[in-house]
Amino acid sequence: MWFCRALRRVAPNGSRTYATQIGDKKVAVLGAAGGIGQPLSLLLKSHPGASSFLSHLSLYDVVNTPGVAADLSHINTSVKCTHHTGSDALPAALDGADVVVIPAGVPRKPGMSRQDLFNTNASIVQQLTAGIASTCPQAQVLVISNPVNSTVPIAAETLKKAGVYDRRRLFGVTTLDLVRASCFVAEAAGKRPENVHVDVLGGHSGKTILPVLSRVPGVQLTKEQVEKLTNRIQFGGDEVVKAKDGLGSATLSMAYAGARFTLNLLRALKGESGITEAAFVESDIFKKDGVDYFSTQITLGRQGVESVGEVGPLDEYEQGLLKDALEDLKINIKAGVDFAK
Ligand code: NAD
Ligand code: LMR
Repeated sequence: MWFCRALRRVAPNGSRTYATQIGDKKVAVLGAAGGIGQPLSLLLKSHPGASSFLSHLSLYDVVNTPGVAADLSHINTSVKCTHHTGSDALPAALDGADVVVIPAGVPRKPGMSRQDLFNTNASIVQQLTAGIASTCPQAQVLVISNPVNSTVPIAAETLKKAGVYDRRRLFGVTTLDLVRASCFVAEAAGKRPENVHVDVLGGHSGKTILPVLSRVPGVQLTKEQVEKLTNRIQFGGDEVVKAKDGLGSATLSMAYAGARFTLNLLRALKGESGITEAAFVESDIFKKDGVDYFSTQITLGRQGVESVGEVGPLDEYEQGLLKDALEDLKINIKAGVDFAK
């Protein structure tokens, strides 16, 4: 590997940051031609500085990857793009991947719950994870496909069956819940969203999403505001599904959230310390209640999950939300485990 000392100036790709290293990581996006896959791949390919830790973007889908790869490859960053279409091409897409991001599967239409996607997406995630187990068993796996509360256990069981499961390397991506919470709370409190961090715990659907509004730094909310905002954060996905009116669910905000998580994980894999993100991972916190996966803030490191954060103090209202969240999570997780078995 060689190093270049970059200059503090605007580079031809418009980047004002300066890379000191050439990246060596390969990221595979499974579902790369989809509503999330395309903008997510764009954000990874074009992120200023991404080429200091990413060298290869592998674009896999059952359709249309040549066009997506040709288009992205005209962006002047040194991240190489390759395309792979159809299940015969899955091993080539995954070969040597350090990180695999999975937005493959069907999205909701108005009137559907995320759990209604189970029948279609469960087998897609199972098939793709089986491919990961045989081709790149050491990869970090980021599951976006819904219902995340069930697809993560499906992925875990599939990796376990193949004897390659490591709890440090499997994540359900819940970043969008935190991104949304930050927007909605900032709007209510008259702050800049960039400056508002809201912890969101639990899972990724309805009542399993637990925003902790009692401890947002610098923000005091009334009881009425808390109840309204909690509901809006829990059902934020429905706002987009309704607005898209049959044409799918959140894609652009999800691509933003997925890229943020992926880039932070790549930084941590490269050795940057102190990087935290929330994610739905195997967690001991509520195993006694029969809930094996739970999202809290986690610290990322060279092996993936370095440590899983605590739930932290909750007020009485949030304790009630937690109880509801655990009840639903238990059912959603069991559905995933049963399917995989
Ligand atoms: P989409 O239909 O636009 O794209 C999905 C892509 O997956 C398509 O290109 C399709 O060809 C591809 N695909 C289908 N089966 C495949 C397979 N076996 N292998 C590889 N690719 C396959 O849908 P979208 O809007 O991109 O949403 C994708 C998924 O992400 C949905 O399940 C949606 O509910 C979920 N989602 C999750 C979050 C989250 O916060 N975790 C947010 C938004 C959407
Ligand atoms: C979201 O939160 O936007 C996604 O999970 C998509 C959905 O179905 O709402």
